[in-house]
Amino acid sequence: MVVLHACCHNPTGFDLSHAQWQEVLEIVRERKLLPLIDFAYQGFGEGLDEDAYGVRLLAENLDEAIITSSCSKNFGIYCERTGCLIMVAKDSEQMDNIRSQAAIVARENYSNPPAHGGAIVSEILHDPELTALWREELTEMRDRINTLRRDFVEALKPYGLDEKYACVAEQRGMFSYTGLTPEQVDRLRDEFGIYMVRSGRANVAGFSQENLPYLAKAIAAVND
Ligand SMILES: Cc1ncc(COP(=O)(O)O)c(C=O)c1O
Repeated sequence: MVVLHACCHNPTGFDLSHAQWQEVLEIVRERKLLPLIDFAYQGFGEGLDEDAYGVRLLAENLDEAIITSSCSKNFGIYCERTGCLIMVAKDSEQMDNIRSQAAIVARENYSNPPAHGGAIVSEILHDPELTALWREELTEMRDRINTLRRDFVEALKPYGLDEKYACVAEQRGMFSYTGLTPEQVDRLRDEFGIYMVRSGRANVAGFSQENLPYLAKAIAAVND
């Protein structure tokens, strides 16, 4: 089995191009791997459809695939534990087998899923007006994050650090590997009150137009 992130890779923010997904498909086929595609950020990268490119490619071209789609981020219902498990099988007999196994696992794990989050998503997706509003709000979140990524790199330009951190603007989703070292992260925390994990992973959604100049200045200081 191989676990793949459909889009907005957590923690790196690096996503696969269409050509790279094609290569992944070939490797999965060649090695007879079962892909489990973790789809936690649909709509946060390039768009609802665009972000599904790799998922669709694999689902359409393989006999078997497992897709775990989360509603936590794109519906903003993290605490409701809502998502869905999509399984691709080559025929109905195989699907019956998978379904009965999945039912056993679910029974042993949580027995019955919480219903409230699913009802919220169902209400939205069955109402064209609510669906349009949801898409609009999702686009707003995506555009905000992608704009902040570009603005982060822009803010570093006066310090001559824009090229060094250019990857942040190329990456997608909530997270980025900034390339800041553990020591630099420690200094950001101790000297500037800026917090991120020591791997250098930053939550881009935590950037804002207000805090970017301060962040850029602090990053420049720890690059000295
Ligand atoms: C890649 C990835 N998969 C899954 C999850 C969790 O999804 P859920 O809230 O549906 O359990 C996260 C983050 O919380 C994530 O970053």
